[in-house]
Amino acid sequence: MTDYTALEQEAGARIAAAQDLAALEALRVEYLGKQGSVSGLLKTLGTMTPEERQEKAPKIQHLRQSVADALAQKKAAMEAAELEARLATEKLDLTLPAPEAPRGSVHPVSQVMDELAEIFADLGFSVATGPEIEDDWHNFTALNMPESHPARAMHDTFYFPHQDHAQRHTDGPQGHRTLLRTHTSPVQVRTMLSVVEKNGGGAPIRIIAPGRVYRSDSDATHTPMFHQVEGLVIDRDIHLGHLKWTLETFLKAFFEREDIVLRLRPSYFPFTEPSVEVDVGFAIENGKRVLGGSGDAPGHGWMELLGSGMVNRRVIEMSGLDPDEWQGFAFGVGVDRLAMLKYGMDDLRAFFDGDVRWLRHYGFSAFDQPTLSGGVGARA
Ligand code: PHE
Repeated sequence: MTDYTALEQEAGARIAAAQDLAALEALRVEYLGKQGSVSGLLKTLGTMTPEERQEKAPKIQHLRQSVADALAQKKAAMEAAELEARLATEKLDLTLPAPEAPRGSVHPVSQVMDELAEIFADLGFSVATGPEIEDDWHNFTALNMPESHPARAMHDTFYFPHQDHAQRHTDGPQGHRTLLRTHTSPVQVRTMLSVVEKNGGGAPIRIIAPGRVYRSDSDATHTPMFHQVEGLVIDRDIHLGHLKWTLETFLKAFFEREDIVLRLRPSYFPFTEPSVEVDVGFAIENGKRVLGGSGDAPGHGWMELLGSGMVNRRVIEMSGLDPDEWQGFAFGVGVDRLAMLKYGMDDLRAFFDGDVRWLRHYGFSAFDQPTLSGGVGARA
C-alpha cells in the first residue's frame, strides 16, 4: 500500500529545501524523469484491475501534478531571488558622465567664409558662386586678358588636357579651353552676365564670391588649391572712396579692431583700372605680427593683404553692361591668409593635410561659434 500523501509531503519538503537549480533538476529527474518514482507509479496503472485503477489513478495524477507544481514554483522563486540578488549588487550610476561621442569641428576656412558672409550681409552684399572648372573666356578673356596677354602666364594655370590637338582652343563651352579657375574673378563676369540676362541690363550688383581656386604652386605659403573671396559692386557713380570705405569697414569687423589702418598702393590688374594693392599696418608684439596701427610707426610695418580696383570698363562692356552708365569696384582676397592672420596659424599646408590633431586645435565647435562682436551695424 503506497501512502501518496506521505510521498507528496516528502517531495514537497525536499523541493522546498533545494539549495540551487542543479539540486532542483536532480529532484525533478528523481520524481518525474523517465525512471522517476512518480513516473514508476503511473506505469503501474496498466497492471491494475479497472476498479483498482479507478481508485488510484486520480491519486497518482494528483501526486504528479503536485510535484510538478512544487518544482515550477520553487524554480520561479529561485530565479526571482537570483534577480533580486543581482539587482542588489549591480548598480547603475546615473551620475556618471556619458562616454563622449567623437565630434567633428568646423574648419577655419569654413569658419572664415561664414564670418565674411555675415559681415558683407550687413553691408548689403549677397553670396554668388561660380564653377571651379572654368573656361579661359570667363577666367581670362572677359577679364581683359586676351590670348597672348602676359598676365595669363603669371597664373600658373592648370589646363585640362586637349581631347584632340586640332581642337586646341575648342574643348570647353563656347569653344573655349577648360581649366581650373585661377581666381574667383570669373564670378564677376558671370554675375554681370546673369544680371543682364535676368532684367535686361539692370544693376546694381553687390556680391561676394567665396570659393576654391587653383594654381600650380606649392610651398609654406602656397598650395595648389586655396580659397579666395571676390567682391564686386556695380552701380552708378561708384568711385575709389566707396572701395576704401568698404574694405576698411570689412577689415575692422573681421579682425575686430578699430585701429586697422590701410595703405592703398597703385598696382596693376588687367581687369581693374586703376588698380590698387591694399596693405594693412601691423605691430610686432611678443615676436608676432599683430594687425593694427599705421605701418609707418616705429617698429611697425605694412603687410600686403589684397588686390582691388575700379572695374575696367572693358570688363563691364564684355559682360554686357554699358560702362558709361555703370561703374564699380572689385577686390579679391585670400581666405586662407585671412584665417592665418586672424587665428595665428603659420603653415598654409596644414590647412589641407586633414590632420585631426590640427583640426582639434584650430577648428571651431559647430555648437559654440565665436560670433563677431556686434557685426558691422553695431559700430556705425
Ligand atoms: N583676381 C586677383 C588675383 O587673384 C585679385 C583681384 C580681384 C584684383 C579683383 C583686383 C580685383 O590676384
